[in-house]
Amino acid sequence: MSVDLVKTVDAIRKRLQSARLSGKIIGLVPTMGALHRGHFRLIKEARQDCNCVVVSIFVNPHQFGPGEDFEHYPGTLESDLAHCEELSVDVVFAPRVEEMYPREQLTFVEVAKLGDYLCGPHRPGHFKGVARVVLKLFNIVQPDRAYFGEKDAQQLAIVRRMVQDLNIPVDIVSVSTVRESDGLAISSRNQYLGRKERQRVPVLYRVLQIAKEQIQAGETGSQHILRKALRVLEEEPLVEVEYFEVVDPEQMHPVSKVVGSVRVCAAIRIGSARLIDNILCERE
Ligand code: PAF
Repeated sequence: MSVDLVKTVDAIRKRLQSARLSGKIIGLVPTMGALHRGHFRLIKEARQDCNCVVVSIFVNPHQFGPGEDFEHYPGTLESDLAHCEELSVDVVFAPRVEEMYPREQLTFVEVAKLGDYLCGPHRPGHFKGVARVVLKLFNIVQPDRAYFGEKDAQQLAIVRRMVQDLNIPVDIVSVSTVRESDGLAISSRNQYLGRKERQRVPVLYRVLQIAKEQIQAGETGSQHILRKALRVLEEEPLVEVEYFEVVDPEQMHPVSKVVGSVRVCAAIRIGSARLIDNILCERE
């Protein structure tokens, strides 16, 4: 059976009506396209849990700030559809911007506090744009489950909190980060890396591991943990550190002491690429 490509809100609602009525579990994998192995893992998880899998492909202009890569974001619908077909996706929902935003949008969704640190201050308005489009997708598709990658841990925390606060009837499933063999987290933005830059970026995962090792060895002072790892990052001439923090894994605010589990999160700039990554650390 081949994957259905649906482009309008009315059509996706009609397409999913019978699935819903026959009691099928609907899984949604929201994406901006340019599908890669990270997305494939989300889709495979959805395929295991659900009997109707919907992948949305929509490059949401409202989550990009001025000067960000909206204009250059890779659009690869043909190959995305081929991947979805291979992975036995039932429906791809790929609306145009005018379909998602047919009029000026006066309604915002803001999950307070969780966007105050990490990417929030560096990408003003980003999480408001993400929360609104995700809520719209939830209202359009009405999935039972929705799949998000842990690489975007702050986005995941914000979506989870939005779902809890607004009683949205969807289970949020988090899926672990897929990495290249040298540790680089797979991302659509890795294609912005030049050859030299690509050689240097595994340092990002390496410093997260250095932080994790310290925590597992009993170190609890965030400053101490960060200082040691930052020294390694600072030795990389091409890399500019945007942030590097030890945070509470649900509230996403920095903590000065490691108690229970924490997430170490980092963002770097290298050439024209901005890369984020994180690692969950539990004291042993
Ligand atoms: O993570 C992404 O690809 C996007 O932020 C999402 C969740 C599809 C919303 O546009």
